[in-house]
Amino acid sequence: MATVKYAAVGCGGMGRRHLRGMARLYQSSRRNMELVAVCDLNQENANFLADEARDLLGARPRVFVDIAQMAREMPDLQAADVTTDTGSHHAVATACLNAGLHVQCEKPLAVTMRGCNLAIEAARRNRRILSVAENFRRDPINRLVKALIADGAIGTPRLMIETTIGGRDTLFITPWRHMKKTGTITLDEGVHHADILRYYLGEFRYVWGETRLHEKTRQNTKSAGPGGFYARWSGGFPDTVEATGEDALYAHITFESGAIGHWINDHAGHGLRQSARHVYGSKGSLECPGDRNGRPITLHLDDGTVIDDGRILDYAPSYKLSPLAAELFGGERVWTYSFEFNDTDSRILALEYHELGDCILNNHAPEVTGEEARADVALNYAPFESGRLGRPVTLADMIHGRADAYQREIDIALGLLTPAAV
Ligand SMILES: NC(=O)c1ccc[n+]([C@@H]2O[C@H](COP(=O)([O-])OP(=O)(O)OC[C@H]3O[C@@H](n4cnc5c(N)ncnc54)[C@H](O)[C@@H]3O)[C@@H](O)[C@H]2O)c1
Repeated sequence: MATVKYAAVGCGGMGRRHLRGMARLYQSSRRNMELVAVCDLNQENANFLADEARDLLGARPRVFVDIAQMAREMPDLQAADVTTDTGSHHAVATACLNAGLHVQCEKPLAVTMRGCNLAIEAARRNRRILSVAENFRRDPINRLVKALIADGAIGTPRLMIETTIGGRDTLFITPWRHMKKTGTITLDEGVHHADILRYYLGEFRYVWGETRLHEKTRQNTKSAGPGGFYARWSGGFPDTVEATGEDALYAHITFESGAIGHWINDHAGHGLRQSARHVYGSKGSLECPGDRNGRPITLHLDDGTVIDDGRILDYAPSYKLSPLAAELFGGERVWTYSFEFNDTDSRILALEYHELGDCILNNHAPEVTGEEARADVALNYAPFESGRLGRPVTLADMIHGRADAYQREIDIALGLLTPAAV
């Protein structure tokens, strides 16, 4: 099978997780990509990932600290997988696109809407694919929820309630996730939920909302982070971090369909932790289990029917996973699965990589294009901007910079906006 030669750009925790996704793709019957280089400003991180790649993939990729040099020295290179920290995505993705590489970029596409626009424009100018690695929607259980909604299992969707509350004052994985200018936690984690809200209910019309910075000092608990991949760095982070970015978001969303979304993404919650996702329609409701846990969905109907087993498939006739997803998750129409977190994670990341390879080899657009990912960032930042303006904001307000009071400081710091233009 033809393979696309690619470089892993960003060799931190998520770079390590992506490598496991690639190892999963290598082991599958549909391998269509090949890791040939790694690149990180931090050479130690790059060398560490190259060593892990040698062990997991059987060949050590070349190591670089500079994207332009990498592209010059490796003329066969076709793509870059960007897993640098969020605040650098716009610059790194744009540098890769300008070097002639197709790009898969981790979510969020950029730390501001102007950053998103920059990356989208670079992809257009260079005629290269820009795909955003939004993994939650690729979870088979989320594919099944989407099919249940589309196939009318709950009638016309009216309301989605998306709730995440927890975190107290602890450091969330890395210090940069608490800083406004590098992609604060309500953006970095929140954007997954923005994507799921839009994936289920379609485009948003406007958003009312507010955000808060509740916990100004974050305590480093030396956690190894999701999957244990951050242990080599967390001990070196300061004991406390003074946060500058918002850690809680509260929003009321009106979708184009007229459906309503109630969204809480609070990473400073004390007491009872909550993680809940419900969709209500004109005939029933769905209790969704969340992401990457493989638990079953529960369908509640007005006649008292409660379905939380394989019979749920009867309500989603259109549900069918891709051949690779079926191979990795054990069937075309799985309604539950049971793997350790890292095993689930790597399977979903393999799907992302495979899609990128397929887009490049067969010249088609990815599922999560730059524009799609920009709309996720728009939904995510809309409550930030609405709270400052004291009015609802629309997608167009966000894309065209008419609602940017929160983001301006970041844009100026990153050189995406000149102070004179404000
Ligand atoms: N989809 C998910 O489930 C998920 C989970 C975790 C992280 N992420 C995303 O992955 C990205 C990386 O997160 P992380 O936790 O791995 O961060 P991290 O801080 O652990 O690693 C970032 C790496 O990027 C490198 N880097 C920074 N700027 C660079 C540049 N200009 N050129 C080359 N290398 C550069 C750093 O040196 C570091 O090694 C973030 O955008 C985050 O949102 C996604």
